[in-house]
Amino acid sequence: MKYIISGTNRPNSRTLVVAQLVQQLYRDQGESVEIIDLSKISLNALDGTQYGDKGILPPPIADAIHKINTAEGVIVICPEYNGSYPGALKLFIDHWKYPDTFEHRPICMVGLGGTFGGLRPVEHLQQVFNYRNAYVFPNRVFLTNIWHNLKDGKMTDPNLMGLLRLQADRFSVYVRALQNEKMDANSILAVKKP
Ligand SMILES: Cc1cc2nc3c(=O)[nH]c(=O)nc-3n(C[C@H](O)[C@H](O)[C@H](O)COP(=O)(O)O)c2cc1C
Repeated sequence: MKYIISGTNRPNSRTLVVAQLVQQLYRDQGESVEIIDLSKISLNALDGTQYGDKGILPPPIADAIHKINTAEGVIVICPEYNGSYPGALKLFIDHWKYPDTFEHRPICMVGLGGTFGGLRPVEHLQQVFNYRNAYVFPNRVFLTNIWHNLKDGKMTDPNLMGLLRLQADRFSVYVRALQNEKMDANSILAVKKP
């Protein structure tokens, strides 16, 4: 199973609409893919006491992290908030388990925003995932001028839709290649914890 993280907790976000479009692209390929919607997992229940192994996470957050710990691939849809990615996404990531959630986990990124299409948040996220030894897929997609290019649940710019489709096709191949060589997180964790 692949998981798409809709990277903001803002209700009715464009990020969630893009996540749904991307989910359909993977489904069109016959892939199983579920959305983790940060607006639905009670991030406001995190009060600082849940960091680390001993913290008891609220069930919806624990469940979401468990899903990522078993994900064959993770697609992050990331809006630009003040020149970076949303604080809610960092709060979520900071409750993940190292190394299990991150290391050797294939990660793919889509940015959305104004003129730069989420270039900055995606590059900031790449720093985090590279540091934590994830397999960051190099083909990123930047959805520019999202206010104009996303209307009524659809991308109006066929070029941007084509880039999303190409990324989805190639990311699935990338994940399969890592699995075939047993280099992905799930294969490595299975050897470590038989
Ligand atoms: C708190 C906040 C800060 C934002 N800062 C930026 C920004 O720095 N650059 C930019 O291009 N867009 C910025 N935006 C616009 C979002 O990238 C844009 O609205 C896009 O739709 C994704 O946000 P959404 O998923 O919350 O709808 C910001 C939006 C919010 C809510």
